[in-house]
Amino acid sequence: MIRKIGIGLAGFGTVGAGVYKNLLRNGSLLEQRLGVKFDVRRIAVRDLQKVRDVDAPAELFTTSPDDLLLDSSIDVVVELMGGIDIPLAFVKKAIHSGKIVVTGNKALLAEHGREIFELAHEKRVPVFYEAAVAGGIPIIKSVREAFVGNRFEAIHGILNGTSNYILTRMTEEGADFAPVLADAQRLGYAEADPALDVNGWDAAHKAIILASLAYGFWINPSDVLVEGIEKVTAADIRFANELNYRIKLLASIKADEVGEIEVRVVPALIPKSHVLASVNGVFNAVAVRGDVVGDALFYGRGAGQDPTSSSVLADLAEAAAFLESPRACIGFTSHDLYGRCKPIDQTISKYYLRLGVEDRPGVLAQIAGTLARADIGILSVIQPEGLVVGAVPLILTLHDAPYGPMKKTADELASLPCVKGTPLLLHMEAFS
Ligand code: NAP
Ligand code: HSE
Repeated sequence: MIRKIGIGLAGFGTVGAGVYKNLLRNGSLLEQRLGVKFDVRRIAVRDLQKVRDVDAPAELFTTSPDDLLLDSSIDVVVELMGGIDIPLAFVKKAIHSGKIVVTGNKALLAEHGREIFELAHEKRVPVFYEAAVAGGIPIIKSVREAFVGNRFEAIHGILNGTSNYILTRMTEEGADFAPVLADAQRLGYAEADPALDVNGWDAAHKAIILASLAYGFWINPSDVLVEGIEKVTAADIRFANELNYRIKLLASIKADEVGEIEVRVVPALIPKSHVLASVNGVFNAVAVRGDVVGDALFYGRGAGQDPTSSSVLADLAEAAAFLESPRACIGFTSHDLYGRCKPIDQTISKYYLRLGVEDRPGVLAQIAGTLARADIGILSVIQPEGLVVGAVPLILTLHDAPYGPMKKTADELASLPCVKGTPLLLHMEAFS
């Protein structure tokens, strides 16, 4: 007789309902491939009265996630509620009660991954989280298993579907920010709090998980430089285009020769010739460079009901394999090769600097002088037509410089009487 695996779904929103729907759709295929049947036995939601797009028997629903933990017929709980405090308590209780955890909650893991996996190791209970990073792309399993024989030199990724969708529509249609964000929410791409998509933190949570997995220690969020796309204007997208670049919210994860790790998530200029520059809409991509494999690229839908459910189904298969024969891997293994991050102010990059300046002789010399005193070299200068905050735009691209002095110099330039408005400083990614 085929083995049944009891599933408890905590959350029946975009992703939770998608998992239920796709278990119905491909349940018999999974049975044939895995030799087990996944049986959803309880579903926790906030509101029992809510009208839902996906139907499930009313008797499965509860408003108490703890009911899933009290049900001895449930082997695996799938946490898809979002937020931090309630999921953290739920996941810890699940581990204590020996139930395998599957979660798509990147904020939870980025903030509490260390604590969760210490407990998971102590209790020998796995926590799987493929859906937490890059939607339907199987990047967690790839970094953890397929590249296990590699040292990671760099990982670059477009990791937030919502912001990539917004930037793409701003680039291709000249669309305004607010209505495009509303579309992303309607399509189920955005977080319950869409500020996380726009301010860079959703992508940063994913970058923290990827970097922690690649380097074997939990990265502290305060060691990550995070900037959002809200400060990027249509004019910047145009200026970048003239320079042969695209602007993307880009996660950059690197290890230097002494083993210090650098993680940043910022709107960055990417050369149009680089493959990540043509990743558009809700699509995500992750470029991995390992010392053995060289360059590898992953591409797929980064958000939305079905792609994310696909990753949850993969984790359910992992859970089934673990129940069949408990193995060493329970989702995350720490190791001692690395262990520290490079201070953000010491990280090196090229930069794009957009200034609004008075249109009079001597202005360029003043700006060049300020940069020269900070030992920051100019790569190029353009003065495109058009006005920015009532002044003429001056676009500079700048040679490699440490972020701390660069930021200080941008602030100094902002205080010059000839500079109007707030300068915009963006990283330019060299992928070196
Ligand atoms: P969502 O649509 O807002 O759904 C959240 C679900 O959790 C709802 O069913 C809600 O109940 C339920 N819920 C929330 N708090 C609860 C509580 N205290 N007790 C019981 N039920 C509770 O969110 P989502 O988009 O599916 O995202 C879920 C998780 O997956 C998040 O961690 C998110 O970051 C992650 N994720 C989302 C995507 C995506 O594309 N959307 C992709 C990858 C990962 P009601 O239905 O009654 O309100
Ligand atoms: N809000 C997230 C995004 C969902 O837009 O990428 C996928 O994690």
